[in-house]
Amino acid sequence: MYKSPQVFAAALLVLGLSSAVVYGVIYDRPCRTEISVVQNFCLDRYLGKWYELQRYEQPFQTKVDCTTANYGLLDSATVSVRNSAFSLINGTSSEAIGTAVLSFPEQEIVQAKLNVSFFGAPNDRSNYWVIDTDYENFAIVWSCEPLPQDQSSEGFWFLSRERKFTDDKDANERAFGAIRKYIDQSEIRFTNQADERCPDF
Ligand SMILES: *[C@@H]1O[C@H](CO)[C@@H](O)[C@H](O)[C@H]1NC(C)=O
Ligand SMILES: *[C@@H]1O[C@H](CO)[C@@H](O)[C@H](O)[C@H]1NC(C)=O
Repeated sequence: MYKSPQVFAAALLVLGLSSAVVYGVIYDRPCRTEISVVQNFCLDRYLGKWYELQRYEQPFQTKVDCTTANYGLLDSATVSVRNSAFSLINGTSSEAIGTAVLSFPEQEIVQAKLNVSFFGAPNDRSNYWVIDTDYENFAIVWSCEPLPQDQSSEGFWFLSRERKFTDDKDANERAFGAIRKYIDQSEIRFTNQADERCPDF
């Protein structure tokens, strides 16, 4: 699939300024519509700490590892987001603080779609879709932002409750099944969680 570095840089500027959310891979197609997400999503069970095991590379987290996401409840409708990462190259930690809300909380059957934003930007984009999660082991998260000229920018994160992924057979089948079905495996970057320098965020 064709990806253009120039468009990527432009998108970075636009997205970076307007929402501070930057995605990983630019495609010459509109956002895919056939992505299915978790139904009857239980936000409470999703909160807490997740370790990132895989992702599409993101400009703002380029080359960082040991990445974690921490989700807490700020009030009944708002989730606090704290993403932490460590550079194994220069030994520096970094953090992004944000908030998330359910995209469509009024729905009778709550879908696992959230509006996440960082650095105080408004939560005005449904940009965090949980394709599948068992809450206890894994979450497969996908994101897409439309770009001009029918292009789009996708993000992907494979989150785990442990630094090392569980041996649980059902969790493995579901997580890797979702990745095979929806994720462009040639674009995946594996996050180093095994290095002993990884901080305990
Ligand atoms: C360390 O590396 C990270 C990730 O590449 C980079 O964002 C950061 O600016 C670097 N920090 C220093 C102090 O060089
Ligand atoms: C989330 O973003 C979508 C646009 O992508 C918007 O329609 C929806 O109202 C937002 N949800 C909330 C709770 O702000």
